[in-house]
Amino acid sequence: MKPMHFLFAGLFAVSAGTTPLLAQPKRYSLDFDAGKYEPQTVTVNGNEISIRAFERIVYVANPVDTTYQILNIYIPEGYFHGETINGYTARSAPVFFPNRIGGYMAAQPATAINTPNGRPPGNGTPPQGPGGAPPNGMGMGGNRGPSAMALALSKGYVVASAGARGRMTKDAQGLFTGKSPAALVDLKAAIRYLKYNDEAMPGDANKIISNGTSAGGAMSSLLGATGNNKDYEPYLKDLGAAPANDDIFAVSAYCPITNLDNADAAYEWQFNGVNTYRRGGPMQGNNAAGAALTPEQITVSAQLKALFPAYLNSLQLTAPDGQRLSLDNSGNGSFKEYVNAYVIASAQKALGSGKDLSAHSWLTISGGKVTDLNFDAFVRYQERMKTPPAFDALDLGSPENQEFGTATVDKQHFTAFSASHSTVQAPRADEQFVRMLNPMHYIGTKGTQTAKYWRIRHGSKDKDTSLAIPVILATYLQNKGYTVNLELPWDRPHSGDYDLDELFQWVDQLCK
Ligand code: DHB
Repeated sequence: MKPMHFLFAGLFAVSAGTTPLLAQPKRYSLDFDAGKYEPQTVTVNGNEISIRAFERIVYVANPVDTTYQILNIYIPEGYFHGETINGYTARSAPVFFPNRIGGYMAAQPATAINTPNGRPPGNGTPPQGPGGAPPNGMGMGGNRGPSAMALALSKGYVVASAGARGRMTKDAQGLFTGKSPAALVDLKAAIRYLKYNDEAMPGDANKIISNGTSAGGAMSSLLGATGNNKDYEPYLKDLGAAPANDDIFAVSAYCPITNLDNADAAYEWQFNGVNTYRRGGPMQGNNAAGAALTPEQITVSAQLKALFPAYLNSLQLTAPDGQRLSLDNSGNGSFKEYVNAYVIASAQKALGSGKDLSAHSWLTISGGKVTDLNFDAFVRYQERMKTPPAFDALDLGSPENQEFGTATVDKQHFTAFSASHSTVQAPRADEQFVRMLNPMHYIGTKGTQTAKYWRIRHGSKDKDTSLAIPVILATYLQNKGYTVNLELPWDRPHSGDYDLDELFQWVDQLCK
């Protein structure tokens, strides 16, 4: 599978005699070097924590791109002196594994210091808050508190963050190297490095918790769904990934933009009938004033919505009480009620924390309880953000079209619908590369170690994808016996890492 240009990319070396030898590309050691670190200090809530920073470790023997295929590992200094931190020791400390992937773009690993919360925006332009100021934190991250990395270190976790190639990554020859499934393969290779070196470094590589937001949340979900599955093996082998497993213990995913092959239909199931849209995210540009769908887009919306019930029903989902979750041909039914119940639970939590929800006429509140929510009115309050099809754009204009390109073709369709309705007659992606980027196809399948524990958050005001997507993911996992904690935090837009204390409480309760 190794492309020829890579084999010949090395320089010709001349030996002592006159015979030119083809230089071998440099092979990187996969052995963790415990002596190669820089002491650093992170400050969390006024407390200084000494750590050892092992930065920019190339995590595969034959990298394609050493800008991104690198790992930063941070370890509390105390673990080198036999200390116990938050009940953890050098042997038992969980390994927190955050990525900074956004918009299916390449990402460098996060750093313990100087990393504001959240991720850089996917298209490389910082989103602007009101009045041109940077929004909270940075990118689509959440609050202004300590970074997830620093907080994890303060709680005695070992932190490892890997970079990964992305949809625009190119090599020196101008070929694309980061199309699906490259980013996931890279993160898996980094997991293998950590498992391979488990004995050589503090932290328990059997307790890896991945964390990511949006496209990074999708990658976090994929790591959890696809552990050790052989589909990825040839690509890992090409990179010279460490000989080790790549399954993980737990997944933290904020607003995962995932299940891309069904996300267009899910979006129209939710937003059909909302015929104006307002782009907000850096992925979509801004049209703060809003705009109307064209008659063609309204037709496409109805066509896509009509595809959703068959997909949803094919999953044969059941609620925890055993009720079958289904939809009729018009998109109504127990699944819709089930999604609505998550939104009601979210409103209830907001109400319980003192939020005044009385302005929302579509909520029924009586005696301090949210007793009903008109889902269709709630969706109009949410507002539509994307035009149909939301992901496999008919003109190839979406980040996802670019994610499913090839070494030589930048953008492709990845659904049958958009391939057959294309306005640009573009090629369709290899179905296997679409499949390999959808956790739904792997959860609990033979030869796969799916993570046992999942924490998924998707804000109730996040319209980057349909609320059906996290609910389907969570329910499918639950139905297969995995432990899932899903909430749709009230009025949260597309963002992540906004409830870190609760996140780490959840991890602690799993690991202690
Ligand atoms: C992201 C957001 C999107 O709306 C999308 O389609 C893909 C990725 C992101 O924020 O990573």
